[in-house]
Amino acid sequence: VPAHTFIATWLAVAQTGAVPVPVDADPDTMNIDLSAIEAAITERTRAIMPVHLYGAPVPGEALRALCDARGLMLLEDAAQAHGGRDGNRRAGTIGHAAGFSFYPGKNLGAFGDGGALVTDDADLADKVRMLSNYGSREKYQHELAGGNSRLDPLQAAFLSVKLKHLDAWNTRRQQIAAIYLERLAQTPDLRLPLIAPGTQSVWHLFVVRHPAREALRLALTKRGVPAALHYPVANHHSGAFAATFGQRAFPVAEAICATCLSLPIGPHLSLDDASEIATIVDQVVRSL
Ligand SMILES: Cc1ncc(COP(=O)(O)O)c(C=O)c1O
Repeated sequence: VPAHTFIATWLAVAQTGAVPVPVDADPDTMNIDLSAIEAAITERTRAIMPVHLYGAPVPGEALRALCDARGLMLLEDAAQAHGGRDGNRRAGTIGHAAGFSFYPGKNLGAFGDGGALVTDDADLADKVRMLSNYGSREKYQHELAGGNSRLDPLQAAFLSVKLKHLDAWNTRRQQIAAIYLERLAQTPDLRLPLIAPGTQSVWHLFVVRHPAREALRLALTKRGVPAALHYPVANHHSGAFAATFGQRAFPVAEAICATCLSLPIGPHLSLDDASEIATIVDQVVRSL
């Protein structure tokens, strides 16, 4: 798993009884460092779980080949990347399976919690369907020790309506990101997100980095620009994992946690809003 991700990625692995093995982030893309994955594989490794963080797909072709050669599963955490592209493929289609989140704040969000697993493996789909329904295919025939993680039909109904708008909403996010990338390119000390060649981000978040992140965040708030943190605490330093990994160093992930700042992005913003925000961010950074 990437060292730098929302902690849910690690928790999902831990919940199965497996141990998440962190791989540090790539300092440019902030996604998992592809060049460091192979060295982290041991004879106990069962799966590789890249995260398309902030909406930016991790290039998957070489990873899939590595997994196939080593007998590992490639499981994509696509919770933040509905509609993202890696070449001609959509995020969530290159692994053996992928997980999507429909938490309301996501690019495709329900009116409450929800999520989905996608796979092109019919046997796996059958097993996951059973696991989500008390391990049962037929009433009172419980073949697996599953639970209840069915998608609520009411949420599914909301999502079916919203799905039709996903491409348009993602396009708006991409237009806003293009404005930020152009207008903030010369802003001193502000590090802009870099997207891996051949991929198309759906910009779930627009995360910049600045050495005086807290001062910048406060100053932006005063100017009416809310900026959030994704994520301020490294997973290996969080209470849940400090005992296991707290002594390990993941310097890139730690640096991202210390300097990251998420600028406003989403289909609710107009392109004029984005321009105005870019002007304010540039002014505020220069005044620090
Ligand atoms: C990268 C990532 N993975 C997993 C999750 C978990 O999704 P959910 O909240 O739907 O369980 C989230 C979001 O919450 C996420 O951002």
